[in-house]
Amino acid sequence: MVSAFSEIQGAHMPLGRKKGKALCMLMMINIFICVLVGVSWKLGHKGGPKGIRIPSKRFWHLTLVSKSFWNKEQQRLDVINNPLINAELFGGSFISLPDWLNDTGPLDPCEADYRVPMQVLDYNTLPKRFQDFLLHMRCRMYPMLINQPHVCDKKPFLLLVVKSLMPHFDRRQAIRQTWGRAGFLANRSVVTVFLLGSTSSVDNFPDLQEMLNHEAKLHKDLLQWDYRDTFFNLTLKEVLFLEWFSTYCPHAQYILKGDDDVFVNTLQIIGFLRGLSKGKGKDLFIGDVIKNAGPHRNTKLKYFIPESVFVGQYPPYAGGGGYLLSGDLAIRLSNISQQVVLYPIDDVYTGMCLEKLGLVPEKHPGFRTFDIEEKYRDNPCIYRSLMLVHSRTPQEMLEIWPWITHPELSCQ
Ligand SMILES: *[C@@H]1O[C@H](CO)[C@@H](O)[C@H](O)[C@H]1NC(C)=O
Ligand SMILES: *[C@@H]1O[C@H](CO)[C@@H](O)[C@H](O)[C@H]1NC(C)=O
Ligand SMILES: *[C@@H]1O[C@H](CO)[C@@H](O)[C@H](O)[C@H]1NC(C)=O
Ligand SMILES: *[C@@H]1O[C@H](CO)[C@@H](O)[C@H](O)[C@H]1NC(C)=O
Repeated sequence: MVSAFSEIQGAHMPLGRKKGKALCMLMMINIFICVLVGVSWKLGHKGGPKGIRIPSKRFWHLTLVSKSFWNKEQQRLDVINNPLINAELFGGSFISLPDWLNDTGPLDPCEADYRVPMQVLDYNTLPKRFQDFLLHMRCRMYPMLINQPHVCDKKPFLLLVVKSLMPHFDRRQAIRQTWGRAGFLANRSVVTVFLLGSTSSVDNFPDLQEMLNHEAKLHKDLLQWDYRDTFFNLTLKEVLFLEWFSTYCPHAQYILKGDDDVFVNTLQIIGFLRGLSKGKGKDLFIGDVIKNAGPHRNTKLKYFIPESVFVGQYPPYAGGGGYLLSGDLAIRLSNISQQVVLYPIDDVYTGMCLEKLGLVPEKHPGFRTFDIEEKYRDNPCIYRSLMLVHSRTPQEMLEIWPWITHPELSCQ
């Protein structure tokens, strides 16, 4: 351990000359920290950290502090959540906070963070959605307007979780009448909930709250929180759902999460899940997995991310249109998400949380978030073997569902 440390010290000299070398350094330091944490964990379980030799130099000063706002915030969380470094920083020992860690943001994470315009160099020229996102990036607590605290009382086998928007009344109704019908399917219990924020007058929405309240009374399947339901707040929707799940539905065995414009073959999903072994089921996370992706730098794209906000590659992630995971894993995700700074793209964010857990989502060919070939769109038999396809209108959902559920239709 000690020799590994001095090696890094030695290798430190030429740092900064080349980007590649710097990155390599960073990786080595990361590995080193992992080893330290691993060792401390081992020792901890043998009876206290007495045996750990804490290096007398502040080795994390070698860490390059990123110029990108998200990366820097994440580095801060990483230090705070690293038990070894943490013990040293706050345990009244011999060092003070490095300057970049000194957090001068507002005490209440839900107050707008007005340091941001100073810290993000091109803040004033960024699109408004980035300014909104960055100012409120640390806030994860919004009050619930509509809850269904008892929806999971009977421990569902499958919880269908649909990301919706307030005005999409027809999409929700089509889902209820087809693939999202709650009750028993193939002798397994299914519960459906829709996730909603609110439509703010700031975004020029008409006031639909009364109608939504009525819908909630009628169907008892809406979950609503009081935040602006925008594209960049989808991550918030994810985090709030995970927290809700841990509180109100922790015993659901599996979760299918999807948009309100996907068609799901619920029968196929249940068939697949029934065939899983216990071990495989526990870590389940499958979908349309995207690998080797990174941020788009073209300002005209929906997924554009400026370098002042994020640099780096994305971990493997399942496209947000729809994926399937175990309830057990959802609880671990909820936990670990506290250690991952909110990122404006929700499916990438979930990939980041999985990576922190040391897991990789698995690609399953049944998840077709980029649709199927045009010539098969109206072929009833094709839908039998699919798990999920994007996108379908409410009318199409009503047309397709009988193709799947009618046994007289024979397919090879
Ligand atoms: C953090 O920064 C504030 C303001 O810049 C300063 O007053 C404070 O002493 C610093 N705290 C530490 C621990 O460095
Ligand atoms: C339905 O499932 C339950 C357990 O979930 C099982 O005990 C029962 O035998 C099943 N019934 C049929 C008809 O498969
Ligand atoms: C997300 O919602 C919060 C609370 O309504 C709002 O302050 C913020 O501007 C929203 N962010 C985006 C990017 O829309
Ligand atoms: C969640 O995190 C807490 C500590 O932050 C830990 O005590 C608990 O065991 C974790 N739960 C799971 C399911 O990982």
